[in-house]
Amino acid sequence: MKISRRLETIAEMIPSGSRVIDVGCDHALLDIYLSLEKQCECVAADINANALDQARYNILRFQVKSITPVLTDGLEGISVGENDIVVISGMGTSTIEHILTNRKLPNHMIIGTHTDFADLRKYVVSLGYAIQDEKYVEEKKKAYIIIDFIKDNATYTEEDFQYGPILKHNIRYIENEREKVLEIISRIPHDDEDLVRKKKILEELETLRKKNL
Ligand SMILES: C[S@@+](CC[C@H](N)C(=O)[O-])C[C@H]1O[C@@H](n2cnc3c(N)ncnc32)[C@H](O)[C@@H]1O
Repeated sequence: MKISRRLETIAEMIPSGSRVIDVGCDHALLDIYLSLEKQCECVAADINANALDQARYNILRFQVKSITPVLTDGLEGISVGENDIVVISGMGTSTIEHILTNRKLPNHMIIGTHTDFADLRKYVVSLGYAIQDEKYVEEKKKAYIIIDFIKDNATYTEEDFQYGPILKHNIRYIENEREKVLEIISRIPHDDEDLVRKKKILEELETLRKKNL
């Protein structure tokens, strides 16, 4: 079965045979792939009834029996086992924060987003998680980051939060970020208030780039 490179990257981070709770499953294609290709048992949850109908349709179409569709907000009403993996992907940081606030949290989460990476890392680490792995995927000209969090104590520097404790060693990611900042600097006027901040980011990226060469 073919899924997007981004969803495939998430699937690669999940061991075969896992029980997975996919929050915001939408079409449930990740769950179907995990069930068919990696013998996972999945809970496909979404807050939107139309999305869940599409998920149910796809589950029937692929004749998968190991997926339970659930209409709910975040993890509301879902029992999360000690070894379960919760996946939250394709949502902005504020929605992810809403999903994780004031609830019993899982031991293991894989979160994918394309916005506010530093805020996301800071927030999830503040809940008592450590970053176990990080992947970077480009899809349709957007950069996605997928972070594997486990319940653990860890301390991070501002640089870790900003560029990722693992991704800051990934030369492709650093060069891509550098090119994006260079492009922004070339477009903004010399008197723009943001220019100083952007130049500082560029300097940090130049330093990381040199360290990784
Ligand atoms: C852009 S789709 C992402 C689908 C899939 N996870 C992916 O990565 O391709 C976002 C999905 O999250 C769902 N969603 C948004 N807020 C949610 C919440 N609080 N609880 C559950 N699902 C939510 C939306 O209804 C939508 O189906």
